[in-house]
Amino acid sequence: DKGNHRHFMAKEIYEQPEVVSHTLAHYIDMSEGLVRLPGDLPFDLADLKRITICACGTAYYAGLVGKYWFEKYARLPVDIDVASEFRYREVPLEPGGLAIFISQSGETADTLASLRYCSSEGQHILSIVNVQESSIARESETSFPTLAGPEIGVASTKAFTCQLAALACLAVAAGRQRGVLAEDDERKLVQALIEVPRLMSQALKLEPRIEALAKELSRARDVLYLGRGLNFPIALEGALKLKEISYIHAEGYAAGELKHGPIALIDEEVPVIVVAPSDTLFEKTISNMQEVAARGGRIVLLTDAEGAQAAGDQPFETLVLPQMYQFVQPLVYALPVQLIAYHTAVFMGTDVDQPRNLAKSVTVE
Ligand code: F6R
Repeated sequence: DKGNHRHFMAKEIYEQPEVVSHTLAHYIDMSEGLVRLPGDLPFDLADLKRITICACGTAYYAGLVGKYWFEKYARLPVDIDVASEFRYREVPLEPGGLAIFISQSGETADTLASLRYCSSEGQHILSIVNVQESSIARESETSFPTLAGPEIGVASTKAFTCQLAALACLAVAAGRQRGVLAEDDERKLVQALIEVPRLMSQALKLEPRIEALAKELSRARDVLYLGRGLNFPIALEGALKLKEISYIHAEGYAAGELKHGPIALIDEEVPVIVVAPSDTLFEKTISNMQEVAARGGRIVLLTDAEGAQAAGDQPFETLVLPQMYQFVQPLVYALPVQLIAYHTAVFMGTDVDQPRNLAKSVTVE
């Protein structure tokens, strides 16, 4: 049932404040304002030397955000790879390490094969899955649910932000147990997470602006997405969503990579979507944006009021999101990026919920 929405994808985008809140409630003790993981882990987060993360597609991008979080807030090094590469890399792993597998369906063949490899190499296996009776959930030592509810649209939306919610809590728990975060730090981060559903609802109010913008984007042959730090995976996810459902060629890049190649693509015909909230990396990303502007690129800037002011009138369109802690930015900035893909596809008349050549669950490699 699509409710009042035209597509399952729209319904699922709009469900995010609610389902993310649900997922957060599963990992946070709301009365204490601290993380409380569901169940004891069969290992000590404080003893870990490194984490391996494996997933495919959108779930991989969630893992990439997780990497930034674990490294920054728990000082834990993370090796991350797409499962189709990881499974054949013959990665040497020290027994007793932690391997995390992220999957909506819990049936992705490459992710499952990577899990089995890590298991045979003596790793602790933790999965973050949406379908709790799935193979990946069953074969894990510990399986954390995402509680997004059934996701029908082939392009993943709410499962992604719920994966982020679970990973954020796990990273905070690790930071605390490893003595990187004090109780006060944890409270601040948890408070920032608790505010995410409200921030998401605010971000969804950008929809009319995005709908107008989509008309413009639908004429493009190529679209570039740029971001740094925690927002780099959001640039990747934005590009994946756009190509999946609108069939427009799109690439996500770390903003700093621009001058190492992709800048050659820029002309008046190429829209460049810049994900740049005003944070510690803002200045850097904006200077990349200016390089694009100088070559006539049409910039769409996703930022907050402070960022919009600093960026001036160079962007062709600025989408202003609420101000928020850097920690939670990817959870909220994911939404306008999903809406951009959605409305571009709707405008072009493609089959949004069942894009050509794609399956919801990839059970063969
Ligand atoms: C993108 C998308 C795919 C999946 C990928 C992994 O919108 O849906 O990239 O994220 O196939 O699937 P799961 O999460 O089921 O392992």
